[in-house]
Formats: sequence, structure tokens, C-alpha cells
Amino acid sequence: MSAEMTMEMPADAADLADLKQRATILLTRGDLEGARSAVDAAMIDQPEDADLLALRGTCRARQGELSDGIQDLATAVMARPRDWELLNSLAVHLQQMKMFDEAVVFHVKAINNSEPEQHPQLYINLGLAMMGQGEHLAAVELFEAVLAVHPDMLDAAVNLSSALNSLKEYGRSVEACRRTLAIVEVPELYHNLGNALHRIPGRNAEALAAFQRAVELDPTNWKSKHMLSLLRDEDMDSIPTNFVEGMFDEYASFYEQDVIEKLRYRVPGLIRRYLLKAVPGRTRFASVLDLGCGTGLTGVMLRDIADFQKGVDISRNMLKLALEKGIYDQLEAADLQVSLGEIDRAYSVVAAADVCGYIGRLEEFFAKVAAAVEADGLFAFSVEESFLADFEVSAAGRFAHRRTYVQKALADAGFKVLSVAREQLRNSGGRPVFGMIFVAQKTA
Ligand SMILES: C[S@@+](CC[C@H](N)C(=O)[O-])C[C@H]1O[C@@H](n2cnc3c(N)ncnc32)[C@H](O)[C@@H]1O
Repeated sequence: MSAEMTMEMPADAADLADLKQRATILLTRGDLEGARSAVDAAMIDQPEDADLLALRGTCRARQGELSDGIQDLATAVMARPRDWELLNSLAVHLQQMKMFDEAVVFHVKAINNSEPEQHPQLYINLGLAMMGQGEHLAAVELFEAVLAVHPDMLDAAVNLSSALNSLKEYGRSVEACRRTLAIVEVPELYHNLGNALHRIPGRNAEALAAFQRAVELDPTNWKSKHMLSLLRDEDMDSIPTNFVEGMFDEYASFYEQDVIEKLRYRVPGLIRRYLLKAVPGRTRFASVLDLGCGTGLTGVMLRDIADFQKGVDISRNMLKLALEKGIYDQLEAADLQVSLGEIDRAYSVVAAADVCGYIGRLEEFFAKVAAAVEADGLFAFSVEESFLADFEVSAAGRFAHRRTYVQKALADAGFKVLSVAREQLRNSGGRPVFGMIFVAQKTA
């Protein structure tokens, strides 16, 4: 805007332009509160201005008010239905809300209203939304189309190999990773390459080399470090908490769709069933502590039989979804072992649904749970079953436990086993995964 034009503008219009510019700069710098107060001030006089609505929508979304943010962005889009940046922003935020079908619609509109130079990035965004829908094949086609023209576009290569790995197309994934790695080396691609190789029989040595290179390029890369430990068969007592946190933060938006629709996950319902059967006549509990509560699937199952319910999880993205359900009286973002060490009350029930898979050696964990349960209180949890060792890591990177080991660890911690039920916990790769639901009672 020229100085001349600014001078011709009425004072309030100049102020408005100034405020918009300031808010945009603050937003780019990551100063969300500063940007928000500049926008809020401007919106007092201009509540329907599309620029301001778009700015406020982005601030709100980044401040955790995702649905209000989307509402603002959608209103702005109605005023400017051909603004590709706005359409893309709305689509990306819809994706964060797991509204993948709607996200795809707006990604397509963004593409249709943009210039060809914007298309590669917009195709990648559309591909990610399609992966959210479970349409990995369609996403693969988009990423490949982008790479055909821009073979060095890393986002496309990383997402292509992730999508191929999800489709279990490991050979194609290896080829795709190697093609881009010949042009540029990035840790994420080495990681995806390692994941693909590790699932092809006889190629563990190459997988190890790929994870090793990923760690050399980025020594803070906990995902590849964890895979290295697994492949080297290093003794592990638990899965590193930063690995668990990162994995579930990434997985959170797909988690429920994945476990309920695809994996037929049954553990929360089984925990409820066996808890209610454990002590005749005991069908309501004063307080429940849900360890590794995730998005709250177990909380949903126990809400009507718990007077007070607290959830603890290390993944903030999982917890955000639990919070939205409104079924917990208290939620805490923490490593559950740390949280248990600082507990300030005794619970009637402690539940841990599909959490022991991340904890190998159980003695210390069970002792801490025992300290958090009231006398006669109950501890209900699931484990996947191992027949080979007290605890071992499966190919899926999770721990399975031997029944007798779990029983001994419970007894040592002061629990009496009330029931052990062998059940199908979920599917994996189309096959049932069996495990056990334990309900134990504190004796001492
Ligand atoms: C497979 S999910 C199960 C979530 C939930 N219990 C359910 O049944 O849907 C495992 C959860 O345990 C959490 N978790 C694993 N290890 C943890 C730890 N050490 N501290 C806190 N949370 C942990 C993960 O972040 C994840 O949300």
C-alpha cells in the first residue's frame, strides 16, 4: 500500500489496516496472545471483516479453541469463497478436528482456486486428509504425482513412504525412500525406510543401517533410537516415555477411528465388564484413576459407575480429546509412574487399559499402583499374552507378558487376583490379538 493511499484513507480505515498488519506479524512470530488482542480490538468495530475473522480463527485454533477457530474460518470463507489460502487454512484445521471428509472438500476447493505453483503443497495437504479418511491408495497417487514433477519435495516423499508402509507395501516404500534419499538425506526418510525394511523378511541388517543413519543425522531422533534398541535386541524394561509421548501425539487424531473401526478394540468394555463382576454387589465406585487414559475410551465406559474420575496420560494430544468428552473430573498430563509417585489420595479403582504394552517390567509399576489404591480397592488392567518370556517386545514394538509373571508381580505388590479372563483384545493385520484382563484386589 502506498503512502499516498494511506493518507487518503479515513483515519479509522488506516488504523484497521495497521491493526491487521500488526496481528499478522505477531501471529507469524508465534505471539498468539498479542495477535489475538490486536484482532479483538479491531473486531469491536468490524465484527464481520473477513481478514479479521480469518486471523482470529487462526489464533483461536492455535490457542486450543479449535472448533471456535474453525467457525471463524468458515465464516471468512463464506465472504471469500475463492481465497485459496483461506480455503487451505480451513481445510487444515478441519483435519486437526478429525473432520477428514470436510477437510478433503475444502482442500479440493483450495486447489481449484489456486495457481499451478501452489499445487504441489496443496496436493500434499489433500493427501494427508485422505490418509485421515483411510484412503491411503488415493493419497499415494497424489504424493507420487507431486514427486514426478518435484522429486526433491521431501514432504511428499516422507508422506508417500508412510502411506505405503500403512498399506504394507514395503517393497514400494523402500524404492520410494531410496529414490529421494539419492537426492537428499533426511532422518524421517531413513526412519520410514528402516520401518519398511524391518518388515521384509531377511532385511533386518539393512533396517538397522537405515535407523542408524537416521540417528546420525538427527541424534535427538527418539523414534529411530527406539527402533535401533528393538532391532539390536537390547534389554528394555519399558518403552522410553518420549517415544510413547511422540507416538501418541502423532496418532491422537486417528486413534479412535483406527482402534474402534479397524482394530475392533475391546479393552475398555472388557475392563468395565470384569470390574462389575469382581466383587458381588459392588457396582459403583467412589473414585477411579484411569492410567494412560488416552482419548478417554475407558473413561466413557466407567463414567456412570464412578463418582469421581481422574485420567492421566503423557500425550497432550490424546488428553485434549479426552477433555472434549467431558467425562473426567480431573485430567493430568504426566508420565503415569511420576504421577503415581506423587499421588495425594487413595482410589477405589485403578484402571490401565492397554497400557502395560508400554511397560515391560511390572514390579515397580504395580507397587506404585498398590500405594494409590485404598484397602480392598481394585486394580483392573489388560496385558497382551506372551508364552516365551516374563515380558518381551513384539514385532509391533509393544510388550506382551506371561500370565504367571503378572500374577507373581501382583502378589508381591500386595494384590490378590480376583479374575483373569483370556479375551480377544483387538485385531492386528486382520488377525486377532489375544490377551488377559486382570482384576486384582489390594489385600494389605
Ligand atoms: C493404547 S493407548 C490406550 C488408551 C486408553 N487407555 C484406551 O484404552 O483407549 C495407551 C495410552 O497410554 C499412554 N501411556 C503409555 N505410557 C505412558 C506413561 N508412561 N505415562 C502416561 N501415559 C502413558 C499413551 O500416551 C496412550 O495414550
